[in-house]
Amino acid sequence: MNDSIFHYHNGSLYAEDVDLMTLTDEVGTPCYVYSQGRAVGNLKRLQTAFPDAEIHYSLKANANLALVRALIDAGAGLDAVSGGEIYKGVQAGALPGDIVFAGVGKTEQELRYALDMGVGWFNVESGHELARLARLAQQMHKRPRVCLRINPDVQADTHQYISTGHAAAKFGIPLGEARDLLEKHAESDSVAVEGIHTHIGSQLGAVDQTAEAIKTVLPLLDEYSDLKTLNIGGGFPVSYTGEVVPSVEEFASTIRSVLAGRDLHLIIEPGRYVVADAGALIVEVQYIKHASGGVIVVTDGGMTELIRPALYGATHEVMTLHDPSSSEFVKSLVVGPVCESADILRAEVVLPAPQPGDRLAIMDVGAYGAVMGSNYNARPRPPEILVNTDDWRVTRRRERYEDLIALEE
Ligand SMILES: Cc1ncc(COP(=O)(O)O)c(C=O)c1O
Repeated sequence: MNDSIFHYHNGSLYAEDVDLMTLTDEVGTPCYVYSQGRAVGNLKRLQTAFPDAEIHYSLKANANLALVRALIDAGAGLDAVSGGEIYKGVQAGALPGDIVFAGVGKTEQELRYALDMGVGWFNVESGHELARLARLAQQMHKRPRVCLRINPDVQADTHQYISTGHAAAKFGIPLGEARDLLEKHAESDSVAVEGIHTHIGSQLGAVDQTAEAIKTVLPLLDEYSDLKTLNIGGGFPVSYTGEVVPSVEEFASTIRSVLAGRDLHLIIEPGRYVVADAGALIVEVQYIKHASGGVIVVTDGGMTELIRPALYGATHEVMTLHDPSSSEFVKSLVVGPVCESADILRAEVVLPAPQPGDRLAIMDVGAYGAVMGSNYNARPRPPEILVNTDDWRVTRRRERYEDLIALEE
């Protein structure tokens, strides 16, 4: 959360220079609001911390076309994990050559599409995938650039569901098998294996395991002279509730010292760090129910708009749209209308005594918010609004009931 982007002014919560009360009077709730200035600012901070790296923004965090376009304009390449993300990235204005294609289960159709589009890198996660890619590339008279994603068997300091670099994880290739693949494909006419990829998880709580992962894969880069690129993925954390997390500058200096003396081309794939604190989900209180020791605040937004609390036990700060400075406070459980007991937006938060009709901002929802949304309970998806200083626009309209049945025959 960053108070300079979401801040109180004249008794009301603002995003940049836009009054969110006025905005939501117009577009309704629930809605997502993104600050273009904050997202581009976060990208710039990464560009400064990693001046020599190629930065591929990870679309999985937030694939809103207008927001992605702003990031591309500010110099980002993209990281896509499906054919659909490649399509969206190109629609947002990316050159296919500036897209890396990752993912553990790329289908034949997706690989063909990516080859046809001419994506810049294929991050390959298994021997079978490399064989399939080589066969398709040969058929299509292409020679794609490949990074082998290595599983370094490192336990990241994060939630188990987003820890990807330990031996039991489905991601990446064990070191020994990678050596065999490098030998086998060294002289290949159909694939150019030119890099190593490793990504140990998201929302990393410490830098040490990243250093460990890089040290694990460095021998490969030293042994095979064709390997001139190291892609270390994403994972740079944000502080959701004021907790201390390592800064991107700490990651950069640790990585620099591990790589000292080597002339490697570095790629990073940040997602969360770029967009998390650029976004909020605005919901409206529908009902208040009294519970032991506090109140249950039933809002019009829930796990269909933000699943992170239900999925990972994640905690997001909550702000009121009216300045709370003079209110009474009450212990609150903020929930949605979805028919699941896990439909909680925020457990145990002290709020200025909420009333039906009050609007709340669930903070740091820019990453893994809308993209993980669903139509469960036949709930139309909310609109996405992009704020740029004192200007704002609806970049994705609210779904209508007709949209819910549009694909059914
Ligand atoms: C391979 C890869 N790259 C990049 C990312 C983006 O991660 P984050 O949003 O934590 O930066 C992920 C997400 O887990 C990933 O799996």
